[in-house]
Amino acid sequence: MRRKLNKKVRLRRRMLHRRFMRRMRRRPVFKKPVPPVQKQEKPEPEKEPAPPAAVRSAPKRQVLLCPGPVNTGPHVHAALSGPDLCHREPEFSHLLQTLRAKLIHALGLDQRHSAVLINGSGTAALEAAVLAGVEPGQKMLVLNNGVYGSRIAQLAKIHQIPLVEIRSPLTERLDLSRIAAALKRDSHIGTVAMVHQETSTGMLNPVEEVAVLAKKYRRRMLVDAISSLGGEKLELSKLNIGLCVGSSGKSLHGPPGLSFVLVSQEEAVRVGKMKPKSLYLDLRLHLKSQEAGDPPFTPAVPLVAAFAAAVDDLTRETIRSRIARYRERALFLRAGFKKLGFKFLLDEKLLSNTLTALWLPQGKAYAPLHDSLKKAGFIVYAGQSELKGKILRVAHMGQLLQADLKEFLRVLKEVTKS
Ligand SMILES: Cc1ncc(COP(=O)(O)O)c(C=O)c1O
Repeated sequence: MRRKLNKKVRLRRRMLHRRFMRRMRRRPVFKKPVPPVQKQEKPEPEKEPAPPAAVRSAPKRQVLLCPGPVNTGPHVHAALSGPDLCHREPEFSHLLQTLRAKLIHALGLDQRHSAVLINGSGTAALEAAVLAGVEPGQKMLVLNNGVYGSRIAQLAKIHQIPLVEIRSPLTERLDLSRIAAALKRDSHIGTVAMVHQETSTGMLNPVEEVAVLAKKYRRRMLVDAISSLGGEKLELSKLNIGLCVGSSGKSLHGPPGLSFVLVSQEEAVRVGKMKPKSLYLDLRLHLKSQEAGDPPFTPAVPLVAAFAAAVDDLTRETIRSRIARYRERALFLRAGFKKLGFKFLLDEKLLSNTLTALWLPQGKAYAPLHDSLKKAGFIVYAGQSELKGKILRVAHMGQLLQADLKEFLRVLKEVTKS
């Protein structure tokens, strides 16, 4: 009986257990509430940060009638915003080497000269050239007829290079007989250093005639052609000019902040044996490492790319046409200035192709004249040193249109009348 009961109980229990299990299986399983599915939005493309306020508020286009920086063309602008490059990679080596070769070619030079690029404005390359320009125990003869001739003398003094200075009046042509006499008298003069265009007055100095004297007395020539290269003829090989300094941001239509020295083969050999007088501005080091395609310090990579674009523009235009174009601009502007009654600082025979210095009209101060012209979109330049407050300088380097020059003359007429 007891057994029977037990069996009954077991069966019942089993049944209850099965029922329980069935119920459990049917019961909804407790889950954490799932948040409603959010519609996946496409990730926003990364936005360029807004340009800094100073850039945004800059006027659209100013016509730069100052002797650098100059207006540059679309190829230069595009190159400036090109890809970021590392200077230790072959891409940069290639860019540097082709720029150096193209610059020589664009300037109408040949393998008798090499271009050495220097980070920094014209003065950086000038300082490197002055340091490399004389052998120990030699003197430098500096022809000084303006602010930039004076700068060469200043560099020589700073670096304790024995100096012979011929100072000449700002508005007179250099006196060749004084130069010849100095060379004849002093055999310790190893180098004649001079400025091609004295930008403080717009005078084109007689480099050819001085080079003939230097050749006669067997001295080397160092020429600051920072504001003239591209706008004036300068035959370095024919004139036996061993060191010639140039800048990207003037008549070569490149960006400011990059300069170079053109070194003759003969000078390259001499400089290659020199003891360094500076770490950063050691021309020997730059020449050697650039020949190897491996600059010693970090170069201004975007400026190198932009200068290469400017040199390509010059190659397409040709140096002959560029010089002719500058000459036409000079004649056009000067005819306009005369019509407006302006007087030139210099005799016209002394003027360069790229800049005109004008006496300020009577009773007119420079600052309000500058400001009125600026309001109309034109930037002109003041006099320097003893000519400060007396003259106005108008350069016409860079990517300018004939329409810019016409409009400038129209505005100048208006502001000088008022
Ligand atoms: C003839 C000449 N030399 C040197 C310089 C100095 O160049 P930077 O101001 O680029 O250093 C200038 C500048 O205008 C110049 O015209």
